[in-house]
Order: sequence, then structure tokens, then C-alpha cells
Amino acid sequence: MEIKITKTTTPKEKPVDESKLGFGQVMSDHMFLMNYTEGRGWHDARVTPYAPLPMDPSCMVLHYAQEVFEGMKAYRWADGSVHLFRPEENAKRLQDSSDRLCIPQIPVDDFVQAVKTLVAVDKDWVPHQEGTSLYVRPFCFATDNHLGVHASKTYLFCIIGSPSGSYYPNGIDPVNIYVESRDVRAVRGGTGFTKCGGNYAASLRAGEAAATAGYAQVLWLDGVERKYIEEVGAMNVMFKVDGKVITPALNGSILPGITRKSCLELVRSWGVPVEERKITAEELFVAADEGKLEEAWGTGTAAVISPIGEMGWEGKKAAINGGEIGQLSQKLYNTLTGIQWGKVEDVHHWVTNID
Ligand code: PLP
Ligand code: COI
Repeated sequence: MEIKITKTTTPKEKPVDESKLGFGQVMSDHMFLMNYTEGRGWHDARVTPYAPLPMDPSCMVLHYAQEVFEGMKAYRWADGSVHLFRPEENAKRLQDSSDRLCIPQIPVDDFVQAVKTLVAVDKDWVPHQEGTSLYVRPFCFATDNHLGVHASKTYLFCIIGSPSGSYYPNGIDPVNIYVESRDVRAVRGGTGFTKCGGNYAASLRAGEAAATAGYAQVLWLDGVERKYIEEVGAMNVMFKVDGKVITPALNGSILPGITRKSCLELVRSWGVPVEERKITAEELFVAADEGKLEEAWGTGTAAVISPIGEMGWEGKKAAINGGEIGQLSQKLYNTLTGIQWGKVEDVHHWVTNID
């Protein structure tokens, strides 16, 4: 794919204090754009100065949410080189999301090339301080201007970059979570397995209610029986119960996380038994009562591993590992972040240099 590069003539000031970056607040100098037109396919791949996208009020995405996105990071290593973590997996997941939302797919190689090109142009925006990275947000949306309900004939694929610190202000500190019994995030047959904006809109009310009740995250139950654990906030979830790692099986309503996949590959390679299956909230509280719920953690690109220190459900509370991060959670965090920042040998060939 040929990518035309137009550099900005008015570069912005880069954040000076990288310890105050936060998540997704500052955008880098450039963006990647590519258009789709029915009959012509994807065309006009380009990197341009970061700027607002002009939009007609009748633009379809504003009304019917035909949109998909991805989230990944570019990591600066000690030698100054910049690397991505399993970008082909993001490309494939964007294809699966696109297929569900009737959006034309972008070839995996083109996606990876686009991300690498933008990150290379904005390489100076990849922060230096330990634990920071350039969060990369590819997204693709319907651009036809009309109000009829059918798939758009034109789309825009865009990638932006945001130098970021940790997603959660408290970093790796264990969080308390609340089992949500009213709202559900997604249902089988719907869009739960995709990364489409609508899923996140549907999750906000429960997130806000949990926050009001003093909880950091929501533990989602399945939409049919409201019994089985699905995800935690915008992360996949895993538990260590009686020496075994258990995690909800991918059932159509759960997002197939790349961190989830990587954790399971690591845990299996360490000889720890893993079960991907249905898990009830009841089962977890019984295990906690019996002292068998050893660890619990969320997995996702933004936070990598987010330990769970306490769970609340129907008036009951269960403390996990005395509210401390567990050994296995810590080992997963150290290994994954070690590979991402080039400090641990990448035996699985997960990282790719952008140059
Ligand atoms: N589940 C949801 C709903 C998410 O938004 C994310 C974040 O991307 C994840 C799980 C974790 O996926 P990944 O590990 O690919 O970042
Ligand atoms: C994650 O990377 O874990 C996320 O959930 C990203 C979020 C900002 C959508």
C-alpha cells in the first residue's frame, strides 16, 4: 500500500512531565487516514497533520453507530527503538468487528503498515519514562450523509496516537469491583465480541453507578441468565481458584482480548492448569468463603494486568488475597510488560520493531 506523508509545519509542544500524562488526553502531531468508496475499495492512504474531521450532521455514524475501533500501544525501549505488541492480532480483530458491523475489512498487512507508518512519523511522541507508551487508536466509521438505515457505501479509517501513562490513576494497585445485576454489556448474537463504540455506550450507566457506590469497576454478567461472569469493566477477567486459572470461555458476548490470549499462553507455558469455561458469580463467592479464591485480575492493553482486591455482590463482599496483588498476577504483569519494553526475552515473537 502506498502511503502519502504530509508533515505538519506547526508541531505542538510535547508534554514535558511524562509522569502526568494520564490516559488518552494529549494527541500526537499526525494522523493516518484512508477512505473507502463502494466500487473502488480502500484508497488514498495518507498521514496528515492531526486535525478535526469535517462532518455533516446527517453523517450515518452519528445516528446508527456503524463504527469499530482498536486499541494498542507503541513502546519505547531503552535503546530508543519503538515496538508494537502483536499488531496483527489487532488487525484480525478489527476485521472480525468490521464483518459484524457491515464495514469493509482492511487487509491485515495494510493495517499493520498504517500503524507502523504513523508511529514512525510520530516517533518523537512515544514517551520515554518507564511505564509510558504511545496509545494508538485505529477506528473506522460510516461516512455516508443520509438517514436511511442501511450499511454506508463510504467509510473513513483513521488512526490517532496519544502519549499515555497508566490507564488507572492507581496503576497496579488492586481495585474493588461490583457484580452488576441490572445492566448487561452485551448478548450473544449481538456485538459483544466486537470492539464497536456502541458496546461502550451501553456500559457507561453501570460504570457510573458502580463508581457512585464506591467501586472501581463493574463485573459483567451474561445477558441471558445473569449468572455467568463475562468481563470486568473494559477488560477480560481471570481468577486463580485452588491452583487453577479459570476464565470465561469466549462465547460471542465477550471481547477476545489480546492480553487475555497472551496471558493464557504464558500461564499454560508455565505449567499452570487453565480452564476456559462458564463461571458463575455464585461459584466465586463460594470459593472465596472456602478460602480457595486465590487471585483475580483483569487483562487489557491499557492496564495490562489490573488486580482485583475485593468483589461485591448482592450485599456480600469477598476480599481476595487480603487486597494485595497475587504472585501469579504479578508474574504475568512483569512478564508481559517486560516483553513489551524489551527487558524480557520475547520467546513467543510478540513484539515488532516499527522501522
Ligand atoms: N474487553 C473489553 C470490553 C475491552 O474494551 C478490552 C480492551 O481492549 C479488552 C477486553 C481487552 O482486550 P485487549 O487485551 O486486546 O486490550
Ligand atoms: C483496554 O485496553 O484494556 C481498554 O479497555 C481500552 C479502553 C480505553 C477501551
